[in-house]
Amino acid sequence: MNKPGRFITFEGPEGAGKSTQLLLLKDYLTRNGRQCLTTREPGGTPIGEQLRQLLKHHNADEPIFDETELLLLEASRVQHVRYQIAPAVRRGVIVLCDRFYDSTTAYQGYGRKMDLERVRLLNDLAAGSCRPDLTILLDLPPEEGFKRTAARQETQNTHDRFELERLDFHYAVRNGFLEIARREPERIKIISALAAPEQIHRQIAEFVNHVI
Ligand SMILES: Nc1ncnc2c1ncn2[C@@H]1O[C@H](COP(=O)(O)OP(=O)(O)OP(=O)(O)O)[C@@H](O)[C@H]1O
Ligand SMILES: [Mg+2]
Repeated sequence: MNKPGRFITFEGPEGAGKSTQLLLLKDYLTRNGRQCLTTREPGGTPIGEQLRQLLKHHNADEPIFDETELLLLEASRVQHVRYQIAPAVRRGVIVLCDRFYDSTTAYQGYGRKMDLERVRLLNDLAAGSCRPDLTILLDLPPEEGFKRTAARQETQNTHDRFELERLDFHYAVRNGFLEIARREPERIKIISALAAPEQIHRQIAEFVNHVI
């Protein structure tokens, strides 16, 4: 019989190594005979990717109000869950997702200081019964993350709307992630992102082996 699908999410600030670790885990699982789907939020579907572009790179005069930002993120999530994630998990695929609803709680709830209960209700609405089986939180002081992404930003000359936020915003986001993780220790595993990539990968693989 086929092994059941799983839904694993990666969370943490900019530059924490989410994309790096997601790919290392995908290679590891693929080598072990598992079918993987790597995806990201916002985005992951054609409609979601259009919303991502708006959310990250909109720079016209018209501001994106906080409520609009939250609703666009949740709209992207509905499309992603229904069209990609849930069907893949049902087929027995291990879905590896770069950010999911914990990022919305951390950035819009703790960072933008929107009402946490309201954010939770919208996260629930968008995710439905699709819940991560495991969440890896890569924890890093914001300054360290900025150092890591600085080179990329200079070569691509792109600072997205979130990267342009002030340092206190990024500290609020980090504390938000840690608070969320403290409340759900079974699901969310905190890993220091300061270690070497290979060492972090080994810790992640160990957690993953417990849930697959
Ligand atoms: N453990 C690590 N130690 C040092 N540098 C790292 C580590 N992991 C990744 N990096 C480097 O830091 C930079 C950011 O890594 P990566 O893109 O994986 O982070 P990210 O969390 O996906 O960032 P973003 O949120 O901006 O997408 C890359 O240049 C990557 O090579
Ligand atoms: Mg990334």
